[in-house]
Amino acid sequence: MDVERVRRDFPIYSSRRGDIVYFDNACQTFRPRQVIEAANDYYFDFPACGGRSVHHLATQVSIKIDEAREKIAHFIGCANPNEIAFTKNCTEGLNLVAKGLRYKKGDAVLTTDMEHNSNHVPWLQLATSVGVKRKFVKTPSDGIFDLEAFKRALSKDVKIVSLVHTNNVTGTTIPAKEVVEIAHDHGALVMLDGAQAAPHMKIDVKGLGVDFYAFSMHKMLGPSGVGVLYAEEGAGKDIEPLITGGGGVSLTEYDSATYLPAPDRFEAGLMNYSGVIGSGAAVDYLSTIGMEEIRDHDTALNSFVTKRLMEIELIRILEPVDPRKRGSIMSFNVDGLGSHDVAMILDEMDKVMIRSGMHCTHPFFTSRGIDGCARASFYIYNTIVECERFVRAVSGLVDTFSM
Ligand code: ALA
Repeated sequence: MDVERVRRDFPIYSSRRGDIVYFDNACQTFRPRQVIEAANDYYFDFPACGGRSVHHLATQVSIKIDEAREKIAHFIGCANPNEIAFTKNCTEGLNLVAKGLRYKKGDAVLTTDMEHNSNHVPWLQLATSVGVKRKFVKTPSDGIFDLEAFKRALSKDVKIVSLVHTNNVTGTTIPAKEVVEIAHDHGALVMLDGAQAAPHMKIDVKGLGVDFYAFSMHKMLGPSGVGVLYAEEGAGKDIEPLITGGGGVSLTEYDSATYLPAPDRFEAGLMNYSGVIGSGAAVDYLSTIGMEEIRDHDTALNSFVTKRLMEIELIRILEPVDPRKRGSIMSFNVDGLGSHDVAMILDEMDKVMIRSGMHCTHPFFTSRGIDGCARASFYIYNTIVECERFVRAVSGLVDTFSM
């Protein structure tokens, strides 16, 4: 991958703010010119409403949305674009499924013990409102998903297995295909939170056999405010829409409404057209580079940084230590310093941006008695030179501030 060429596509690097190291990509990535232009085209050229009016501007919007849907379907190995619904973000996709399923008394959900709040809080709500039981797969201290523990936790009452595909703190990825097969053998549905996986590896929803797969476009070069929910046709039919209103129904009477088939039933109300069109451009961009290339690049940077940080006394890398098991994520602590202090000092002193705290994965930290961590996360425009600057900055910080 020609990183210098990639960087030229990202306006921020040629702006007056360009002298930065941005390693907060697991939170949100930058956008290339191609995505910004595609999103802006909507506002400049055809700023109308899709799927309703019949004039030619509206028709152009509808065509562009259909195109984006097809591109995204293809990007995740799905031939049927009707299985792709646009949401506001990954969180909304996960909520849509969690709250759209019909539960009977005694139904349970099985998650890991290190889910992001987006795949934890909705289930907490459902535990209270409809009595859905919670079951957890415990993660060993090495951070690697325990398939045997998963099998043991899969009891008959588990209606749905809802797991993080790649964890946003440890960077570890679960063996999704095996998980799906085992869960299906037990009669459970499977949903994956792909927020940290879809930006960094080739996703093949049909190959995985998963029922629901959710992710956010802002972590993969796309505009903010757009999420994608893949809902397999059969499984999606049983999901009640989360948001209802115009666009999601065929005919309503005073006392009844008929929902349209997916994806329209999940997309009531006016959509983020510009964002969806920009999302199509984002997956085009990623496909041109190639997901294998992206994964190799992430791992190379992570390996470089891990090796150097391991040489610094007082740095504790969150397990697993092997960077090949952590993709683009590198979480660590500095003895004697809080993670927010680490992040603020790196930014203040060296314009190096990382994330700190509990990363919306609170139970992971509270159950382990840790109050957070610093996290560097890499993407396609990051370079080894930036990694060197990051390591120098961390080293300087340790020398100056730690005890
Ligand atoms: N979930 C996002 C992160 O981990 C926001 O940074």
